[in-house]
Amino acid sequence: MPERVKPPENPVEIVHDGTSVVAERGEPLAHALIAADRLPLARSAKLHRPRGPYCLRGGCDGCLARVDGEPNVMTCLRPAHGGERVETQNVLGTRGIDALRAADFLFPRGIDHHRLFAGIRGVSSIVQSFARRVAGLGTLPETTMAPTAATRREVDVLVVGGGASGLAALAELPVGAVLVDDGPSPGGRKRAIDPDRARDLVSKATARGAELWAETTAIALYREPERVDGRLHAVAIGPERATLFVARAVIVASGRHAPVLAFGENDLPGVYSAGAALALWRGGITLGRRLALIGDGAMEDAFCRAVAGSSDVMRVREVDVVRAVGRARVTGIAFRDGEREHRERVDAIVVGGPGSPATELAVQAGAEVEFDALSGYRLRADEDGRLGPGLYGAGSLIGSETPTASGAVTGVRVRRELGLAG
Ligand code: FES
Repeated sequence: MPERVKPPENPVEIVHDGTSVVAERGEPLAHALIAADRLPLARSAKLHRPRGPYCLRGGCDGCLARVDGEPNVMTCLRPAHGGERVETQNVLGTRGIDALRAADFLFPRGIDHHRLFAGIRGVSSIVQSFARRVAGLGTLPETTMAPTAATRREVDVLVVGGGASGLAALAELPVGAVLVDDGPSPGGRKRAIDPDRARDLVSKATARGAELWAETTAIALYREPERVDGRLHAVAIGPERATLFVARAVIVASGRHAPVLAFGENDLPGVYSAGAALALWRGGITLGRRLALIGDGAMEDAFCRAVAGSSDVMRVREVDVVRAVGRARVTGIAFRDGEREHRERVDAIVVGGPGSPATELAVQAGAEVEFDALSGYRLRADEDGRLGPGLYGAGSLIGSETPTASGAVTGVRVRRELGLAG
């Protein structure tokens, strides 16, 4: 079972479904809920399967909840300040026993609500209203939310993503550049693998006067068709305002999505990406005494080193995994052992692997994606990371295995091409 390995230094109280939960001030709400063993946290749309946080970086739906009346909040990206009211949304019953879970048993092959009883008078409208009820993602806020302030900002360079490559790119850029990152604090995967190095990168990144905006998500990146100056437009949503950036150049350093491996019940609460598990550990939270780890790589090795002495980690080869075991959360793992299927009790399953590049924003702005049978989908970039006019990629997004160096190369190139101060 998850628990804190040390008490919070600056504790605040939040409330989850009426129960008081202690959080460390500033840590994501999802971290506090995991530490308090509040799994499952959510239910999937449509089939209402139990959900728990998986990626802890805003890339899955495992942590969605209603926070202070606002539906569909990614609690892994919302820092705890104290006093937050976190509620399970879209269930009939409780987060543990949701009557709408029956949909998962009644429709084992999924629900095709476009065709189910379609056209049958009387029945189709009942089915449609049922589909609407089970498929939703919460209800609208109780009160009308105040409009968010919006501003327009012209910048020389916008960097999207505050991992090692984005920070290294920003370190090459002077005043007039801005980096946006959706996490509560920048550093990305580097913050989990090597926190000291991540801190170092953050201080270097802002030494030349460039700005770093945390908790700010770039949701759109596009070229304004009417404009002929080639500038890119980016819409970024932060805690207090929305900003329309108009940039001479954009460096996308959005990294890679958390890996998703194909094994049975891979969506059970208690399955975590290796990055998420390591981030929790760095935040003083252990996932349990006995863990299964799938995959090899720098992140997975760093995780094993970090939790050695605290958790017993059983490494399982990806090809041997059959399924996660458990009803509403992981209680074990089933894997092939020669000809036989074997089961082990574990508190959590940690999933490693490279994941796929987070290409969405770059593609919106016109970058091209190609498929390679060995490495999967990847962006078409030149050797310095150029993806198109004024558009650049950096780090693992473009397949680099040395994100810091890749970010620095791209930052220098952009600075020179725009004629910015060296
Ligand atoms: S989106 Fe929050 S855990 Fe994945």
